Amino acid sequence: MNEQFIMAGVMGWPVAHSRSPLIHNHWIKKYQLSGAYGRFPVEPKNLEAAIRGLSALGLAGCNITIPHKVEAMQYMDWVDPHAQKIGAINTVVVQANGTRHGYNNDGFGYLQSLKEAHAQWRADTGPVVVLGAGGAARAILVALLQEGATEIRLLNRTLDKAQALAQEFGPSIQALPWSQRHEALAQAALLINTTNQGMHGTPALDLALDELPTTAMVSDIIYTPLVTPLLEQARQRGNTTVNGLGMLIHQARPAFEAWFGIKPAATSEISDLLIASL
Ligand code: ATR
Repeated sequence: MNEQFIMAGVMGWPVAHSRSPLIHNHWIKKYQLSGAYGRFPVEPKNLEAAIRGLSALGLAGCNITIPHKVEAMQYMDWVDPHAQKIGAINTVVVQANGTRHGYNNDGFGYLQSLKEAHAQWRADTGPVVVLGAGGAARAILVALLQEGATEIRLLNRTLDKAQALAQEFGPSIQALPWSQRHEALAQAALLINTTNQGMHGTPALDLALDELPTTAMVSDIIYTPLVTPLLEQARQRGNTTVNGLGMLIHQARPAFEAWFGIKPAATSEISDLLIASL
């Protein structure tokens, strides 16, 4: 057993349903570390105090989840350039001198989940269609661009938001109106749903896949349910599908490594644990 007791956790509001404790506490046990990962329900008005309290309490850091990902950035002493580009953080690492460094591992987690499904996947093999223009889409777009994507068709119910992202992130992103979502699938190599449509309690995404090549990968960042109607539709016509569980697991790996000093593995044990919790 390591002598030092290392603590971390997740700050959100609400945070009761976060699966992050399952993942990190599994790794703590697996690697025989001495530590714990907790849930911190932090109201927005208490965010600054909570973040400043991390070093006072001797925590190694924390994850930041909804609704704090953007607000939390201003309380960092340093923000990783990748996270700056996304405009949000999901991980805080407290340094030995007590200063706070902010990172965003969501895009990394997403790309890793694709590579897990298809080891040879490359961002520049064909057009990528991204549905949605919220916080998750921002993280994925930045990651795709850094990975070398050259043609991204971005569609959002509210066109303005897609246009603003295309403006901000450059000419590789083409903003298209939601009404063109069917035509936009032609010749695509990858389709990504970042909207909430298809999540438990919301209607299925209103999208027919007829125009999408069967060679395209279809991914949904939703993991409740594990198989969204979009993924079921894609599977039935022969597309490779990727659910949202991989992104959740892989985004946790760099954070765990920063806090606990061990590069953790994304194993089927963790997927099974998470699936049992859904
Ligand atoms: P997240 O941070 O998870 O990305 P978000 O910022 O709330 O969440 O974004 C939700 C996304 O789902 C948005 O792109 C939203 O579209 P709008 O920008 O038009 O609101 C999209 N969305 C929500 N309801 C939708 C619907 N009924 N049809 C299509 N897209 C929808």
